[in-house]
Amino acid sequence: MDVQMSKLDQSGGGDPPRERRARRPRYRGTHPTSYAQKYKEHDLAAYPEIEAHLRAKGTTPAGTHVPVLVEEVMACLRPAPGDIVVDCTLGYGGHAREFLRRIAPGGRLIGLDVDAAELDRTRARLEATEATASFHRSNFAGLAKVLRREKLDGCDIIFADLGVSSMQIDDPQRGMSYRQQGPLDLRMDDRLQQTGADLLNRLSEEEISQALWKLADEPDHGTIAHQIVARRRVERIARTTQLVQLVFEAKGLDPKTWRQQRRAAESGALHPAARTFQALRILVNDELGALRELLRVAPSCLRPGGRIGIISFHSGEDRLVKQSFRDGVRHGTYAATAEEVVTPGPQEIGSNPRSASAKFRWAVATSQG
Ligand SMILES: C[S@@+](CC[C@H](N)C(=O)[O-])C[C@H]1O[C@@H](n2cnc3c(N)ncnc32)[C@H](O)[C@@H]1O
Repeated sequence: MDVQMSKLDQSGGGDPPRERRARRPRYRGTHPTSYAQKYKEHDLAAYPEIEAHLRAKGTTPAGTHVPVLVEEVMACLRPAPGDIVVDCTLGYGGHAREFLRRIAPGGRLIGLDVDAAELDRTRARLEATEATASFHRSNFAGLAKVLRREKLDGCDIIFADLGVSSMQIDDPQRGMSYRQQGPLDLRMDDRLQQTGADLLNRLSEEEISQALWKLADEPDHGTIAHQIVARRRVERIARTTQLVQLVFEAKGLDPKTWRQQRRAAESGALHPAARTFQALRILVNDELGALRELLRVAPSCLRPGGRIGIISFHSGEDRLVKQSFRDGVRHGTYAATAEEVVTPGPQEIGSNPRSASAKFRWAVATSQG
């Protein structure tokens, strides 16, 4: 991450005293591999040397997130002193920190996230600054309600960086990754009634098949759905490993052979279970429903001349954003929108491979309101 030092970043001179920490899980060797073993990465304030070391290797330290397209977002949304900015997807606060720096003095940042654990951590990190910020555990579909609670009739910037954070993907307990062993949870918001396991064990074969096709373009959607329904008659599908194994079986692949072939091809071939996990996550969190609602209310939440910018990582989301902004221009709610989608350059992708599929679009509200 290109960290720009600002008054927000400066925690005062001198090394803080190191507190005694509780005993940590022990592991053999010098290179921690599991999430739990990476205790230093979870506490970068105490181990600052680790962050620089990992970032130089192009690795995101566990428990952190590298913000994408930061300069491009700032150039298009033009945050200025005094602006009111709503960061709809606070995450680790990378974009929020940059907004805060640019809207001071007199500006105000309102940060939303559905993930209580991450919201608390980021709030603590950002509240250690002098800028004005407030935080809400809220789905961005409820943006209008949040503005009413803040007694605001509108804001200057609405920003959303869709999808999941690295912290959520890397934590095995969240069940978001086919790479990690864990419960098949996949909820960003633990107040949601249904986990990924609940959905997989309840939906019909047709519903699963449609979700895999429509939300992730999974070519083997029918076979995978069939396999899921057949397996759940024998046992409940509750772990990430079960789902991964099931996808390999449905595709007629052997995991060991697949790994060898991928290594030989030296390509970034998509993991066979990647699309299935993506579809299930989008479904569990109703990600498209929330985005549709955000796009619907956004024009009425922006002040005249206000800007909206959205980063998406999925073609279905990008299509919704593009269409909504273009419709807005046609109907006169937006004065302008991005002609071309903004994507990361090779340098950003090299240093942060997770940015590779990012697509950023923006629009400007008309000035008469
Ligand atoms: C890609 S991360 C954002 C990263 C952030 N821009 C940063 O710089 O650290 C997406 C975050 O948005 C949250 N999120 C996803 N969908 C949401 C929704 N509908 N409403 C509120 N928060 C949401 C996730 O919990 C996650 O923390």
